[in-house]
Amino acid sequence: MAKQRILSGIQPTGNLHLGNYLGAIRNWVELQREYDAFLFMADLHAITVPHDPKRLAEDTYKVAATYIACGIDPEQSTIFVQSHLSAHAELAWLFNCITPLNWLERMIQFKEKAVKQGENVSIGLLDYPVLQAADILLYEPDLVPVGEDQKQHLELTRDIANRLNFQYGSEASPILKVPEPLIREAGARVMSLTDGNKKMSKSDPSDQSRIDLTDPPEVITKKIKRAKTDPERGLWFDDPARPECHNLLSLYMLLAGKSKAEVAAECREMGWGQFKPLLAETTVAALAPIQAKFNALMADRGYLESILKTGREKAGAVAIPTLTRVKDALGYSTPL
Ligand code: TYM
Repeated sequence: MAKQRILSGIQPTGNLHLGNYLGAIRNWVELQREYDAFLFMADLHAITVPHDPKRLAEDTYKVAATYIACGIDPEQSTIFVQSHLSAHAELAWLFNCITPLNWLERMIQFKEKAVKQGENVSIGLLDYPVLQAADILLYEPDLVPVGEDQKQHLELTRDIANRLNFQYGSEASPILKVPEPLIREAGARVMSLTDGNKKMSKSDPSDQSRIDLTDPPEVITKKIKRAKTDPERGLWFDDPARPECHNLLSLYMLLAGKSKAEVAAECREMGWGQFKPLLAETTVAALAPIQAKFNALMADRGYLESILKTGREKAGAVAIPTLTRVKDALGYSTPL
């Protein structure tokens, strides 16, 4: 029987952080054995806020290297660049014409990012989830593994697929497959080191708020040492009055590969002075092999290019027939 498929992507804007790793990439690494995995760099999404053209291509290679360094196996999974396949932008246009404006205006991420952009909000920022729907639906995945913050975008993707199927298809032969989100509880919401109620984010102006996957050991140690805590003695999970405590314990649990019960027992009597060096040491140890592999891959551009070339071919073989099916359903003529 053919394997089920997963698809997911990350924007190549800024450095990837522990949230991207624990909320997304780490899960893909596990899933790739069982699923046919399509993983890409969302570089068209990366220009929905002002960007630096000198860095875009380099940042895209960095994300590809990060995927592989974290354990994505290019022999097993398809790794590709969104902008290398024009089908993404083309399907997004077709979806634009069937998506009601008010579906986009209520997207939480748009509202949050639009506030930060002030007068400079592009149509691309508003339209971002429609492009995301195209990214997903082109590949007919069964599951889309993401962090919690992408939930609303996946609901919109499902709404767009259902609307297209309803308007132009029939129940017996739907045009698009409607995928399910896969949001694992553990790691789905890694929070900022400076505020346990805010998610860790590439766009947070404070570097101190996140741990980048490329941070050297001394920087990681310093960030954890300075992380916000509280004056309580003893450490425990799930206390709404102690969001930072829950977040730091969760990071320890995930990076040490321990169970929640083990960490709860181990840390119950600890103070911050004992726990923070332990977390720092665990984080440094978990990231060291990833960093070594990342550096080696970044020094071998030829290898990365060959992976992305193969990825583009494999992605095109799935995406182009889907695009053609949608165009047929909308009544387009076929070029001779
Ligand atoms: P992006 O680049 O913001 O994030 C990439 C992935 O990392 C997850 N993530 C987190 N998980 C846990 N805690 C956090 N603090 C945290 N921050 C980020 C995100 O949930 C995501 O899984 N729009 C997408 C990129 C995209 C995409 C797609 C994803 C474009 N097309 C199609 C899936 C399918 C984005 O900006 O993710």
